[in-house]
Amino acid sequence: MKYFIQTLGCAMNYSDSERVAAALGKLGYSGAKKEGDADLYIFNTCSIRQKGEDRVFGKLMALEARKRHGENLLVGLTGCMVRRTSTKNSPRRKIDKLVRDLDPVDFVFRIEDAKGLGRILKDAAKKHAIRKTKEKRIRHQDHQEIMTDSCDRLDYLDIKPVYNSTFQVFVPIQIGCDKYCTYCIVPYSRGREQSRPMEEILAECKSLVKKGCKEITLVGQTVNSYGLSGLDKESGLFNGVKEPFIRLLGKIDKLRALGLDRLRFSSPHPYDYSDSLIKVHAKLKTLPPHFHIPVQAGSDETLKRMNRRYTAADYKELIRKIRATIPGASVTTDIIVGFCGETKRDFAQTLTLFKDIKWDMAFLARYSPRPGTVSQKFFKDDVPRAEKARRWHALNNLLKKFSLAYNKKLVGKTLEVLVEKYDPKLKECEGKSRENKLVQFPGEASMVGTIQKVKITKALDWNLKGQTRSAKGAECPKKNKS
Ligand code: 5AD
Ligand code: SF4
Repeated sequence: MKYFIQTLGCAMNYSDSERVAAALGKLGYSGAKKEGDADLYIFNTCSIRQKGEDRVFGKLMALEARKRHGENLLVGLTGCMVRRTSTKNSPRRKIDKLVRDLDPVDFVFRIEDAKGLGRILKDAAKKHAIRKTKEKRIRHQDHQEIMTDSCDRLDYLDIKPVYNSTFQVFVPIQIGCDKYCTYCIVPYSRGREQSRPMEEILAECKSLVKKGCKEITLVGQTVNSYGLSGLDKESGLFNGVKEPFIRLLGKIDKLRALGLDRLRFSSPHPYDYSDSLIKVHAKLKTLPPHFHIPVQAGSDETLKRMNRRYTAADYKELIRKIRATIPGASVTTDIIVGFCGETKRDFAQTLTLFKDIKWDMAFLARYSPRPGTVSQKFFKDDVPRAEKARRWHALNNLLKKFSLAYNKKLVGKTLEVLVEKYDPKLKECEGKSRENKLVQFPGEASMVGTIQKVKITKALDWNLKGQTRSAKGAECPKKNKS
């Protein structure tokens, strides 16, 4: 029996899929090399924007056609499109309408229930067999949906993942989100914020580094609020410590002695970004000079309607402090254009902030109303599509300029590149520098997974070209202990 997992969306989903793969492995499934070879197809979905859901709808139509042609295919769905956050005993125990209407889906499960996949698949296969013999369409209500009674939604994180890479890995430290930005589906799809115990995270990181992992990215919705929702009321401590995220970073940084080169985290929220976190960033050698801090908008009015809890001036001050502490750092962000009520004046303020900060990379999104969120229920999606597109292009033009300007400053410098890929046709390696910049250079297949010193020879809009000193490359020696 072979499975194929199609993952959409953020790093958290990619990390979750590694746990789903492990759970399936335990049940005797193996991964299919090609999607067409699989008897079990699982979607790990993303609902952040309508576009992500539309991709699933499109793919499901193709799968439905395959089923109609007699292919014995079981289709499952997990991730953000499986919206309900309630537990089994909740009066809201209804299958979300969205999922009910997805015809070729045989079963759905919340990612927190990945440990129960054996039972879920058994029931789904039974229903699938009935459908095949009776040759009638299964009723929507028959989609299998299994919820564990357990309230500990973190339980599934102790599944030992089948990692997609040995040298570059995502490690979840937190699930859910308590920030309730008015446009965002995450608090509804992923539920309240819960932080994973520190010892568990450390154990996972240690075992990865011992097996040769060079880069760890800690993932969560607002990583820098790690532990804050679980503070002990009397002592004000989480796992016995005061600033849990900083403590966690400090402990993982010690794995440098075992070979960890880079520790990244994604994404922090500006509201919880403390001065001590900036200081620690400068001190800990595994933390690279790259800061991805979503701003979302440059107008205080818009930020307020988004419930972001900071002003454009607060954000500017945060970046000023970062640049004063870590000169030359790459600073990147997320921005939404065309949010409800965003006037031309509001948008002009986003442009002004962009020119002030000069982010060297940004993920630009057009506002997409998400069902059940405050903005969808109470605000009007009043910026026309064409205007959203115009604003997006205006920002993208600026971004291109600032990205190129940052890249040009790196020409002539020697960067440490963690090689992710080798293209045999071009005889070219590709990887990221510590600043998180994509670098391509002539190399060889054996360099994948190693860190190479690459002299930058050319800056392009979105990436860099370079060269190692010799054709064989010069792998970076392990740095001295701090
Ligand atoms: N519409 C458009 N973009 C969104 N994002 C989150 N919700 C929406 C939405 N409803 C973007 C934000 C966030 C990133 C992960 O996705 O910029 O930082
Ligand atoms: Fe969504 Fe806001 Fe939470 Fe980020 S901080 S996951 S944008 S609610």
